[in-house]
Amino acid sequence: MTEREWSITTSQEAIEMHERYIVQTYKPHKFVYARGRGVWVWNPEGERKMEMLSCYSALGGGHCHRNILQAFVRQARRYWPGSNAFYNDVAPLFAKELVEFCEMAKVLPINTGAEAVERAIKIARKWGYTCKENAGDSLGFERVVDAVETAKTWGKKTKGIPLDTAQIILCDNNFHGRTITVISASSHDKYKRYFGPLTPGFTLIPYGDLAALEKAITPYTVAFLAEPIQGEGGVVVPPEGYLKGAKRICEKRNVLLVWDEIQTGLGRCGKRFAYQYEDAKPDILILGKFLGGGPGQVSAAVCNEKVASVLEYPEDGSTFQCHPIDCAAALAALRLIQDEGLTERAFELGNYFRAELEKMKSPRIKEIRGRGLLIGVELKHELGGAKPFVTKLIEAGILCNQTREHTIRFAPPLVITRREIDWALKRLKKVLAGP
Ligand SMILES: Cc1ncc(COP(=O)(O)O)c(C=O)c1O
Repeated sequence: MTEREWSITTSQEAIEMHERYIVQTYKPHKFVYARGRGVWVWNPEGERKMEMLSCYSALGGGHCHRNILQAFVRQARRYWPGSNAFYNDVAPLFAKELVEFCEMAKVLPINTGAEAVERAIKIARKWGYTCKENAGDSLGFERVVDAVETAKTWGKKTKGIPLDTAQIILCDNNFHGRTITVISASSHDKYKRYFGPLTPGFTLIPYGDLAALEKAITPYTVAFLAEPIQGEGGVVVPPEGYLKGAKRICEKRNVLLVWDEIQTGLGRCGKRFAYQYEDAKPDILILGKFLGGGPGQVSAAVCNEKVASVLEYPEDGSTFQCHPIDCAAALAALRLIQDEGLTERAFELGNYFRAELEKMKSPRIKEIRGRGLLIGVELKHELGGAKPFVTKLIEAGILCNQTREHTIRFAPPLVITRREIDWALKRLKKVLAGP
């Protein structure tokens, strides 16, 4: 097959075919990807734009990074996914390096972010039903024979919740994905209105509110699951002390702490993980997006010792769980983060980017939020929403998007240079700093 036979040659054709054949669950801006290198992308007509969204954070290394591409292609030439009924010689190396990178015990790999969130929910629920964990004890698990009896031991640091009654606490304005179970835990009606019956077992509390967390915990609570910065929710950074406070409460009440770092992790926010700003290490760390390097689809529920052995055969699995090509890309991404200092780079350049945005003193900007290279610029609400500004930015050469109504999100590849940021700032100034 030649390239011409399988690629579309004009933007118009791509847009028309997309709208004709793909179920329209997104409303894309009218830019068509035809080529990408680093932070730059081109449409079929050869028009160049800067990548400032990075597949919602998934392209930490930019487009077609040589190391990731080489790993991906090398493995694609060796063999393709075999059955999980056998072992392969790539996934274990990826898992080892990920576990070391996260300083955790074991990883449950899967493919999409929402699936990893589902796995964290499964682990937390089963832990609640089956784990008997005494304060300060080693981490043995015991089957609970009489679950109702053991539930009465609440307060003695013992779980053993009656089957099918576990509760997980999440936050308003969260975004954890689109499966039925995950949308059941959303506070956004538009994500779940027509998809009931929904999955029970979730309690929502305001984000950033430790008193609400303390109050919401009951003998049936198995976990608190939240984003350390709400990405899709408008790049909302919680008040200082929140992450640490949540950890303290979870430990005190014998509830698992689960951070969804699918968007914020792997260097994006200027630390390996955003929870590290407050040293609030979770029991389960959920990763995705850049974990697959860009070309791979790898997500993970990374577990500490306490929960590492909760799921057993045959309680979970998926055809592409240890996909060797995806795992090869993931391994290359993990090494890239470390070898090229992407975390430190995100920290420094993120500070620079935010400081320069502040210096603009734009009359249109209400607030600039974020950490590292995850940046939200909330516009004044009287402007009527961020969308027209996003359109202007795209026309000016910057691919970004709007999260919630009034906020523009910038999440460039972590390999971006200061010069490239300056290129973007010049255009941003024109669009945002006007009268
Ligand atoms: C924090 C967070 N969790 C989960 C997801 C869902 O990931 P996926 O789209 O890969 O299912 C996203 C996606 O944007 C996310 O930002």
